[in-house]
Amino acid sequence: MKVTVVGAGNVGATCADVLAYREIANEVVLVDIKEGLAEGKALDIWEKSPINLYDTRTVGSTNDYSKTAGSSVVVITSGIPRKPGMSRDDLISTNAGIVKSVTENVVKHSPDAIIIVVSNPLDVMTYQAHLTSGHHRDRIMGMAGILDTARYRSFLAEALNVSPKDIQAVLMGGHGDTMVPLPRYTTVAGIPVTELIDSQQLDAIIERTKKGGGELVKLMGTSAWYAPGAAAAQMVEAIVRDQRRIFPVCAELQGEYGIENTYLGVPVVLGKNGIEKVIELDLNDEEKASLEISRGHVRDVMNALENLG
Ligand code: NAI
Ligand code: 2OP
Repeated sequence: MKVTVVGAGNVGATCADVLAYREIANEVVLVDIKEGLAEGKALDIWEKSPINLYDTRTVGSTNDYSKTAGSSVVVITSGIPRKPGMSRDDLISTNAGIVKSVTENVVKHSPDAIIIVVSNPLDVMTYQAHLTSGHHRDRIMGMAGILDTARYRSFLAEALNVSPKDIQAVLMGGHGDTMVPLPRYTTVAGIPVTELIDSQQLDAIIERTKKGGGELVKLMGTSAWYAPGAAAAQMVEAIVRDQRRIFPVCAELQGEYGIENTYLGVPVVLGKNGIEKVIELDLNDEEKASLEISRGHVRDVMNALENLG
């Protein structure tokens, strides 16, 4: 099983490392446009194999997609990240060009691959990859919801002083400040979170989650990579091991939640065919209104992409 990660920067290299040391694939190919970067990082990960005890082969390539041929899954992380003061949407014109050219190469060499987009603005870059690949929605998706939900779960674990392993949650909508955390669907070892935390504290955690990406950009001068890389690898694992895990994933909605032709984060079943099923939750009026705001924002950025031609 071969998995390709395009972009050997912070997120891509982290994702490739997780794929290798957890032996999620037999071979991981890392591609970057910057001469030698992917080869160097792939070699570094391979040299770690006797220490961390894995035998996944790691191969680097400077823009030579022939090495990616026959990949089962391709993760696209190429593109510029945010700097302080920038929103994810500010990246649109640069990253749309990058995602388009990368997707063309990916499809040429691995026409059957399932594609996971990570580049920002996430929902709209997933749409770009769909436009370029022509893939049906089961084989083209974006990673954001696992990351945003993980941030929410980690903040809750800290506030409640319990293990993050016991926090289950789902978060919907676009990958941005309009994302929609769902306290009604958040439990701590099966206990509704609202029984364990007061509403003021919960609201503060929700607000922190919505701005979680920005918090890290402010601290580091660039965006996060450990959690994003691991989140993308978790999606790859669910697909290559046909785990049928339920994750929030950016998917094209085809009438679910009353929304058409828009890429948004929703809970899905992820298995060997990619998105096996979109799960429709019975949202209340307030949750529907929040999702509608998020949909409107993503639609505006999709329109901006369409206007770029
Ligand atoms: P980075 O700058 O560390 O790495 C990006 C890499 O892409 C660079 O090595 C660059 O040379 C490469 N690249 C640029 N154009 C390319 C092309 N045409 N072909 C191949 N490689 C190319 O950036 P980082 O931190 O890894 O972030 C990557 C992207 O992921 C950004 O757009 C960032 O905003 C996004 N991101 C998305 C998250 C999400 O939740 N969806 C979370 C974190 C980052
Ligand atoms: C994040 O949420 C910037 O999308 C990136 O960390």
